[in-house]
Amino acid sequence: MKIVHAITDLRAELAPFQRPAFVATMGNLHDGHIALVDQAKPLGDVTVASIFVNRLQFAPHEDFDSYPRTWEADCDRLRAAGCDVLFAPREADLYPEPQTYKVHPPTELADILEGHFRPGFFTGVSTVVMKLFSCVFAGKAAGIAMFGKKDYQQVMIVRRMVRQFALPITIVPGETLRAADGLALSSRNGYLSAQERSEAVALSRALQALGQAVTTQGMAKRETLEEETMQALAARGWTPDYLTVRRRADLLPPHGNDAATPLVVLGAARLGSTRLIDNLEI
Ligand code: PAF
Repeated sequence: MKIVHAITDLRAELAPFQRPAFVATMGNLHDGHIALVDQAKPLGDVTVASIFVNRLQFAPHEDFDSYPRTWEADCDRLRAAGCDVLFAPREADLYPEPQTYKVHPPTELADILEGHFRPGFFTGVSTVVMKLFSCVFAGKAAGIAMFGKKDYQQVMIVRRMVRQFALPITIVPGETLRAADGLALSSRNGYLSAQERSEAVALSRALQALGQAVTTQGMAKRETLEEETMQALAARGWTPDYLTVRRRADLLPPHGNDAATPLVVLGAARLGSTRLIDNLEI
């Protein structure tokens, strides 16, 4: 695996290829990331991963400084997975000057759910993803980029960005990988104490319970059921931001007569000082 830091070196490395398959990460790789690399490999003529902890998507009070950086282990895992090129820009490579040009996704999609609780988050994500895409795909005929469905809203926002800017990139969503007890794999799971780790599965169980309740009791009771599910989680010691049933197509609340509409249950909640997110298509 070739490791490059500078954009010019990345482009030189990718020059012989026409259809990169790309996985963007912030490092601290787990099996979910490696599964994305595995799925990306047959979809392009060169497999590229990036590791970059993107300051732009962290609010000042968030965990940018403490975000786990596990460089050697990440390189080993990517090498073992058969990744061809690792792009690991330093901050000065990607942001050599203040990034004053930004991609602002539409508020109706980016200021709800995660964006409501993390203002500016999706501007930071969209801006860095656009820049990473420009580094990897400039001058290419086509390409694919894999994004994990655990970050459901992120996948949707990136997909629309690609469509609206007519980028020659296909966004391929990857299924969420889970631990044996059902906890969605996440780099932030490493923050959990042993006791929190055994409690953490309660989030995915709450999403399942909410999905089941709405399916059996009907959409008219949706808001009550959401409120009850959040209260039940809070009673276990969590601080829920949201647990809600939304339409998969636009992440807006379903109407009463939306019974046949594909839905997704999304949730975010804090356990101790760790904020976890998860979702479940129903
Ligand atoms: O999902 C992530 O790890 C990040 O949001 C991404 C897409 C790598 C952008 O920094």
